[in-house]
Amino acid sequence: MIFETHAHYDDEAFDPDREELLSVMSESGIGTIVNVGASLKSTESSIKLADKHTFLYAAAGVHPSETAELNEENFKWLEAWCQNKKVVAVGEIGLDYYWDTPEHEIQKFWFRRQLELARKIDKPVIIHSRDAAKDTFDILAENNADEIGGVIHCFSYGADLAMRYVDMGLYIGVGGVVTFKNGRKMKEVVEAVPIEKILLETDSPYLAPEPNRGKRNSSLNIPFIAQKIAEIKGLTYDEVVRITEENAKRMYKIQ
Ligand code: NI
Repeated sequence: MIFETHAHYDDEAFDPDREELLSVMSESGIGTIVNVGASLKSTESSIKLADKHTFLYAAAGVHPSETAELNEENFKWLEAWCQNKKVVAVGEIGLDYYWDTPEHEIQKFWFRRQLELARKIDKPVIIHSRDAAKDTFDILAENNADEIGGVIHCFSYGADLAMRYVDMGLYIGVGGVVTFKNGRKMKEVVEAVPIEKILLETDSPYLAPEPNRGKRNSSLNIPFIAQKIAEIKGLTYDEVVRITEENAKRMYKIQ
């Protein structure tokens, strides 16, 4: 079954029908979902959702754009939440230079701290990186990310950099962008990266694939992404679903 490695069902976009939507996942072929934290509040909500649904897991972490909220005191809460059995990763963490705030130094400081946390608790990281290719790569290399493990989620750079991350032992998260008409760069990434290093993801409620581009996204759209990957790689749809599920279970250490 499909393994959805990155969604945000705690988002208010799902307030009207969250439980109804989650209740049809299994019958729609979605076997497992990781709900990813992006702030202290959404980490807490992700864990609550994971406690309620056996097929749903959580990631605990603070997105670079939210790092101004962190301090030594509340960082301890994050550490404590990471001990929860349903928490399978630290994320999403990283660098986002698209926006001017928080300052780059603040983002880098908490990126490093959350990488250390992942190492300490022996869980993989989910990396968010936007307009920050060099600093993200350098910090992951300095911190021996090959020993921590993880995924560059919603990968947005070129095929060469994707392969450098694969060499580092990391996975490449592929979402709706690969289906876009202007998604040529992403198609080159999928061509280059071995299928054993690709994970399926949506980043719901954002980034819906074609033919639903612009609408609210949900994991029910993953078949459009898997189908596009199958076409690019010359594999069957079922092979893409099976191999990416094995990849995700290996990375998140889920039996
Ligand atoms: Ni996300």
